[in-house]
Amino acid sequence: MQTVRSLDMLRKSLAELRADGGSIGLVPTMGALHEGHLTLMRQAKAKCDHVVASIFVNPTQFGPNEDLDAYPRQLAEDSAMLEAEGVALLWAPTVDAMYPPGFVTNISVSTVSEGFCDASRPGHFDGVATVVCKLLNQVMPDMAFFGEKDFQQLAVIRALARDLDLTRPHVDNIVGVPTVREADGLAMSSRNRYLSPEHRAAATALPNGMKLAIAEIEAGQAPDAALDTLKRVLIESGFDSVDYAALADASSLELLHSTPHAPARLLVAARIGKTRLIDNMAVRPA
Ligand code: PAJ
Repeated sequence: MQTVRSLDMLRKSLAELRADGGSIGLVPTMGALHEGHLTLMRQAKAKCDHVVASIFVNPTQFGPNEDLDAYPRQLAEDSAMLEAEGVALLWAPTVDAMYPPGFVTNISVSTVSEGFCDASRPGHFDGVATVVCKLLNQVMPDMAFFGEKDFQQLAVIRALARDLDLTRPHVDNIVGVPTVREADGLAMSSRNRYLSPEHRAAATALPNGMKLAIAEIEAGQAPDAALDTLKRVLIESGFDSVDYAALADASSLELLHSTPHAPARLLVAARIGKTRLIDNMAVRPA
């Protein structure tokens, strides 16, 4: 596996990779890789001839009081994991390579980026949309892979690929990969390592409570009542606060307050100690 840190080097390596005419799959990450990320690499490998991974802790998607400086950085370990997955090329740009002096452009996707995580992380999705658009243009992959774990992020990326008429990749080749979970159901996340043993144990209330709420909604109970119960259960189980627990249409992300008649999604963000956890699950329509 080659690792490149400048755009010049990236272009040279991509030209070499493309020389055999094979397809390229891109998996953007911020590093601190876990099984969730590696599952994306495996999906990319299954669908494309060559896998390009990126690792870039993107400063513009972190708020002023968020964990940018503390975000785990472990390029050597990450490289070894990617190598073992058969990744051909690792794009690990410096902050300067991504945002050289004079950088003034911002991509802002409306509607799907509003509400949910945007309420407590204003500007976050502008940062995501801008950096993902750059990564897609830099690599011009045939397909790009993103986790459903970040469901709103996936919707934002699909909207930008559609609205900006991206051709490499085309919006239909933005692939969403189902969330990979720990044995007890907690969604894998680079932030889980911040949890103390007690908080880690209590955190299982999130997936468990969500499954109960979904069973209630699918059985015809009013969604808002099921969501109130879920919020109460999370607090009783040791969560400090719930940023949101909401039912939304799975493609438009419009909020739903009655039994869904099209595929829907339960989306939750909750804080335990200093850690903010997010999760989402499918809700079947009546
Ligand atoms: P990061 O949090 O490192 O996640 C990289 C990719 O892995 C994202 O597409 C995310 O949804 C996916 N992922 C994370 N945990 C997962 C899990 N448990 N199961 C399945 N997929 C999972 O998301 C980002 O980085 C950044 O916002 C990025 C898109 C790279 C832009 O900076």
